[in-house]
Amino acid sequence: MLKKSIYLSLTFFFIAFVSKFSSAQNDWQNNPAIEKKIDSLISLMTLKEKTELLHASSSFTSGGVKRLGIPELVMSDGPHGVRMEHGRDWEIDSTTSDSATYLPVGITLASTWNKNLGYQSGKVLGSEAADRGKDIILGPGVNIIRTPLNGRNFEYLSEDPYLAGEMAVGYIKGVESNGIGACVKHYAANNQETLRGKINVIVDERTLHEIYLPAFKHAVQDGSVLTIMTAYNKINGEYCSNNKYLFDVLHNEWGFKGTAISDWGAVHSTEPTLKHGVDIEMGTELANGTKDNPDYNGFYLAEPLIKFVKKHPRYEKYVDEKVRRILRVMFAVHKFDKKRPEGSRNTPEHHKTALKIAEEGIVLLKNDYGLPVGKKADMPENAVVKTIAVIGDNATRKHAGEGGSSQVKAEYEITPLEGIKQVFGDDYKIVYAPGYKPNKENKLDSVLMKKALNVAKHADLVIYIGGWLHNIEGEMWGKYRYDAEGHDKESYEFPFGQTELMNRLSDLKPMITVILGGSFAKTDKWLEKSGAVLFAGYPGMEGGKAIAEILAGKINPSGKLPFTIAKELKYYPAHSIGEYPGNGQNVIYRDSIWVGYRYFDKHPEKILFPFGYGLSYTTFSIDNLKLKKKVFPSGEPVKFSIDVTNTGKLEGKEVVQVYISDPVSRVVRPVKELKAFEKVNLKPGETKTVSFILDKNAFSYWDPESKKWKLEPGDFIINVGNSSQNIMQKAKITIK
Ligand code: BGC
Repeated sequence: MLKKSIYLSLTFFFIAFVSKFSSAQNDWQNNPAIEKKIDSLISLMTLKEKTELLHASSSFTSGGVKRLGIPELVMSDGPHGVRMEHGRDWEIDSTTSDSATYLPVGITLASTWNKNLGYQSGKVLGSEAADRGKDIILGPGVNIIRTPLNGRNFEYLSEDPYLAGEMAVGYIKGVESNGIGACVKHYAANNQETLRGKINVIVDERTLHEIYLPAFKHAVQDGSVLTIMTAYNKINGEYCSNNKYLFDVLHNEWGFKGTAISDWGAVHSTEPTLKHGVDIEMGTELANGTKDNPDYNGFYLAEPLIKFVKKHPRYEKYVDEKVRRILRVMFAVHKFDKKRPEGSRNTPEHHKTALKIAEEGIVLLKNDYGLPVGKKADMPENAVVKTIAVIGDNATRKHAGEGGSSQVKAEYEITPLEGIKQVFGDDYKIVYAPGYKPNKENKLDSVLMKKALNVAKHADLVIYIGGWLHNIEGEMWGKYRYDAEGHDKESYEFPFGQTELMNRLSDLKPMITVILGGSFAKTDKWLEKSGAVLFAGYPGMEGGKAIAEILAGKINPSGKLPFTIAKELKYYPAHSIGEYPGNGQNVIYRDSIWVGYRYFDKHPEKILFPFGYGLSYTTFSIDNLKLKKKVFPSGEPVKFSIDVTNTGKLEGKEVVQVYISDPVSRVVRPVKELKAFEKVNLKPGETKTVSFILDKNAFSYWDPESKKWKLEPGDFIINVGNSSQNIMQKAKITIK
């Protein structure tokens, strides 16, 4: 009885004081009143209670303390939709209403180069997470695309840290505007899935700071991200979950005040993790599916931690710091007040956002054909189209539920064939043949190919819809994975004999090729022969509609590649000058800072389609680069403007890309680096002036000697263009 009344009064006391702090979340990093409350709470907690907060209490929750009214923290994947329920013990509950908006994946979002769409995407996620009773959404994924074979490239954003960071910041702000925490992942250098649980990435400090860390830094410092997830792999000998270097950078250099969460099952130690590692240990299963911690006490940060601290009481301060970071996040996500805005799910607005991102994220790579299809006058001679043959398994495949932890139960998913029927069905006869079928032997099905060739023969135009898929049905965690977690692509060739099928189809008829997937692949004759080629990534639940609208010219394409497509796998720097996938233990990043266009700028002959590239149905000019002055004192922001004009006949959007070069430097620097961009919508004939302000970060490099970012005075070139290989304006400035 006495116990109960203490319990009740403590709970009451706690609830009473936390409810006074409803505005805490506005300034969650530096709120003295909240910090004081946290102090008192910590003083009320036993060591056992504190450790409850430091590890999972079910598949997607970390523990709370009932006695003090501290609830569990509830998490969900991420990154492109709120994942279906996996219950407390991973059981999928098919009776729950857990469908969600399936947004275009990371790579497609980044292809929009539209920061506002990053925000909108996050806003939808946050709102749906709130509606589903989640506190944290496990995204965005910002790991750098280092090799096209990485099975999770589709979840990530770019080969370029600035683009990845800018898109992530928008996403995070969107999520967090709902009173939900985002979780930027996977910190850091989780650039391959092959052996992700044990591979040791050997990478130099400058490369870490210039390539693999900036998107995280951006998320922390500009996005105020509430949580960060550490990666499975090791960096320079230490697991990321207890990597002293990474945690020094995170806490001491960037000033991160939020919570670091481990990837699921990625903690490997008690003492190092306590001192310089994650705050929360998540994951309840071993990779082989057996239960790791059936009673949730086996965690490194549970019983073993209690034992350790009892033996070394002076280390309890580290436990307290972790608890503080977790409680801070709890306050910020309104765990203790009722101030979280109400969420909503599967609303028409959310679906419209999914459509908008898809429309802007699909990249037109080639258009000799003269798309759009709708305009007969623009077509090649005699190409009067009556019948369209849609060929390819991806025309009818739904992707939402596959790929690993990013799976979403989409309320619906418009396939490309459905989209094409909706948009073209009244004017054209649409016929369909799959042409190939995903199979474990990875073979061309000659019967299906023959049928498809026959269907194509009787049509006037072929729209081929193929490329990658996440995995063969039912093989989400098995061997037969392509764009999927835990597994890299084994080959850079489109699977199931598609190359031959595409070659033969493109020999036969005018062909428009639409590629879905988390990367491109080795091409063949079909590229030359395709009249038009689009790269659609995985465009979400409205993706089929967006593809059809672009083909029909209802939408003018405006996507730009967030990664370079090289002519051959061997040309990618990870494969040519670096190492991939390593020797089973280590992978040495010999390619250092020469990732993506930073490498290809020096080897343009190896590029098939450059970073930042994408066509439109209209044309643009970029000119009149105007600088107020040419000499800037060090530290003064560099301001300039540029005019962009729609010189064609259709309304459209162009992405103005700003790259900085430092021609003379003490260290070797890339030819140029992306430091700003803006997407502009223009009516035919319209001109807009876009202004840019660059701070010293845009001109600095990370200096291994002083272990700091360094701005070396001298001359710099501002390059402005609409792809990394199409610079249209240049100006020299001097920083003194
Ligand atoms: C993935 C994370 C994910 C977590 C929870 C892990 O396997 O690497 O990205 O958030 O599972 O599902």
